[in-house]
Order: sequence, then C-alpha cells, then structure tokens
Amino acid sequence: NLGDTNSLMNKFIAEIRDVAIQKDTMRFRRNIERIGEVLSYEMSKSLQFEKSKVTTPLGTKELQLPTDQLVLCSILRAGLPLHQGMLNYFDDAENAFISAYRHHEGDEDAFEVIVNYFAAPSLEGKILVLADPMLATGRTLENVLKALKKHGKPSQIHIVSVIGAQAGIDHVQKVFPKSTHLWISAIDPELNTRGYIIPGIGDAGDLAYG
Ligand code: PRP
Repeated sequence: NLGDTNSLMNKFIAEIRDVAIQKDTMRFRRNIERIGEVLSYEMSKSLQFEKSKVTTPLGTKELQLPTDQLVLCSILRAGLPLHQGMLNYFDDAENAFISAYRHHEGDEDAFEVIVNYFAAPSLEGKILVLADPMLATGRTLENVLKALKKHGKPSQIHIVSVIGAQAGIDHVQKVFPKSTHLWISAIDPELNTRGYIIPGIGDAGDLAYG
C-alpha cells in the first residue's frame, strides 16, 4: 500500500478523490496515468535483472537490466489510463484487454460480473500484470482470472490498482494464487451495500470517460 508513505503520489490520490478537482476529466485521467507510472516503477524493483553491457560513444558500461517478459492486461474501461501509465514505463511489454461490467437484475444490490470481450497474447511463462483502478468486491478480478485460464499459465501475477476496499483485497487474496503481488496506492475501510468503496473516488470509468 504505497499511499501510506510520504510521497508525491498522495497528491495524485487527493486530486482523484476531490469532487471539485475530479470534474477536470483530463486531469483525472492523467493522474490515474501518473499513478500507473509510479506503481510500475515500484513493481519493477521486484522483477528479475541481469548484468548487461551498454556501449556509449566513449566506452562500455555494465548495468543491471530487467529481463522479464511482461503482459499488461487492463480491464475496460477504467483500466485504460492506468494501462497507459504502465506502458509509458514498460514500453516493450505485450498488451491484453478484457471487458468486465456489473449486471444488475431485479435486486438493486445484487449483481453478476459479465466478461465478454478479450484479446490477449499467450500468457504462458510470462509475467501477467492486471490493471484496474478500483478493487471493490474483487469479483471483477476473480472473473477476469477465470477468463484468462485458457490463454496459458503465467509465471507470476501482479495486480496494479489505485483504490481498494479491504474486503475486496481479502477476496482477491482468497481466489488468486498465493504468489500474486498487489500494488495499490490506497486502501479504504468500507464497501457499501451496492459494492462501492467508501469514501473511495466514485465511479472511475464514468469520471475518466463520462
Ligand atoms: C468498476 C471498476 C472495476 C470494478 C471493480 O468497473 O473499474 O472494474 O468496478 O469492482 P469489483 O471489485 O466489485 O468487481 P465498472 O463496472 O464501473 O465499469 P467501467 O470501468 O466500464 O465504468
């Protein structure tokens, strides 16, 4: 939970939460993108690195460079600005997109998560990074994980998120493999009966795209 340390990221989080500032949709998207960049940088420290030689115009220098093959997978549509932020840093990663939405039938508080669009390269042996700014009940991520099964077994899974509710984080811990890493910028205590994070930020998809 990177939002608990003193860093510039707290300013990005404050701005996406603030009802007055979040009306500026371009700033909202850019802040989510910036958070994606910061979380990517933090995540990169956990990857595999190898010694490599770089030739400069005046000599050579040995450096530690990342070697992992990443697939960045975003959940439409709120995942798009977060995806762009991650891609700004992991510029040679492969990319996957998946759609998920809550379907309410009858009871306003009850819903199922529908996954019906999915485009992805093979995940076999690669590092899968799942990006979704909101982790409320965790049911979207659970259904996305199920849909990803037929695309190969990743060597490791990382989840990148902006705001999560503790209940959703507990759910993800239960349904994802034990080795899964979660990179999140803020954790809120509550989830209301409709499955919204309190105080949260509101609906990230609507705030980013109307
Ligand atoms: C939001 C959010 C996540 C999901 C999280 O999507 O972007 O995908 O809800 O909720 P969960 O953890 O309870 O599953 P939404 O359905 O609002 O779609 P949108 O991004 O297209 O607006």
